[in-house]
Amino acid sequence: MYNFDIEINRKNTNSLKWDFNKERGKDENLLPFWVADMDFKLPDSIIDSLINKAKEGVFGYSDPKIDYYNALIDWYKTEYDVNLDLKNIIVSPSVVFSICTLIKIVTKENDAIIINEPVYYPFKSSITVNNRRPISSDLIIRNDKYVIDFNDFEEKIKNNNVKAYILCSPHNPVGRVWDYDELERIVDICNKYNVFIISDEIHSDFVYNKKFISIAKLNPNNYAIVSGPTKTFNMPGLKISHVIVNDKKLKDDFLTEFDRIGYSQQSIFGLVGALSAYKYGKNWLNEVRDYIYNNILFIEEYLNKYLPKIKFIKPEGTYLIWLDFKEYKLKDKELDDLITNKAKLWLDLGIIFGKSGSGYERINVATNRNLIKKMLDSLYSVFKDL
Ligand SMILES: Cc1ncc(COP(=O)(O)O)c(C=O)c1O
Repeated sequence: MYNFDIEINRKNTNSLKWDFNKERGKDENLLPFWVADMDFKLPDSIIDSLINKAKEGVFGYSDPKIDYYNALIDWYKTEYDVNLDLKNIIVSPSVVFSICTLIKIVTKENDAIIINEPVYYPFKSSITVNNRRPISSDLIIRNDKYVIDFNDFEEKIKNNNVKAYILCSPHNPVGRVWDYDELERIVDICNKYNVFIISDEIHSDFVYNKKFISIAKLNPNNYAIVSGPTKTFNMPGLKISHVIVNDKKLKDDFLTEFDRIGYSQQSIFGLVGALSAYKYGKNWLNEVRDYIYNNILFIEEYLNKYLPKIKFIKPEGTYLIWLDFKEYKLKDKELDDLITNKAKLWLDLGIIFGKSGSGYERINVATNRNLIKKMLDSLYSVFKDL
């Protein structure tokens, strides 16, 4: 049993979440619940493998060996019932890196790429920074559930001659875990219009009371999966991820992009951390997932009881929650001001995830319960009388 109630002081550890308020123009004393990493320590088995590597004291170039690929293949088989072929795996430094690389390979300048806002904001910026056109088919809420508006999705693909789709599966920030029939409709439409699917599955190991379905199970005509161990095992600082392709030419093109920008070989610590996580991290993951789910239930109960004007649709996956403050009728600037300057919290303002995120806040709940309680009490102190 791991004790996730332990408060780990992450200040002065070079943590983006805890140590860079000043650099980002924020008050030093805000409690951070923004960037998606966890305030939990990994199990000793993973830490020890990194320490042992550090003790070797020589950190030359490295590459993944067969045991690395086998661990990944085993993970996909046991966790998602997907059979990976070793030759279709590319190890890359990060998921956003892989998204940008795929954008460059499968589309041309000025091509349209579709996304479903509100969505993880680097999707849009990866499109625009590469001089492509982002088109959003915004998610809609139907029966208290975020869903894709498939008529709008298809119309926008057709009318804008869309070439690629970045699917967020599970979806950050709304926490949907897509059902088989939803994925089937996505694939049907994308096949029909020859749209390349980039399926970002980095949150696939945080799914509650449901089974995650990888896009690989539906085998679209043209797709790639971008994912990695860094959310699952809280190691984004180790910079390691992977891409799954189903086409030799796509793999060759991806590797050529590596050459073009001068990238080769992963960090040895990324390889060691990921391998030992896939091999020995399962129990820890099961427990951390339960703990986080209980955080979500705790938040739900608290909000229902004390802050019923804040609307909350329980996420099916991810360790992020998406709170709706629209009943307060505040402008986003006013909402931000209350959260930052009154509640003294650093959350992610919904509007950064797209226009349809106006009036919302995203909160990272992968932290100890005590801090969750503090965050809720801070919200209560500001919003109770509004
Ligand atoms: C959907 C999604 N994709 C990608 C990332 C980042 O992945 P990486 O750090 O490997 O670029 C995140 C991080 O929050 C995310 O939520």
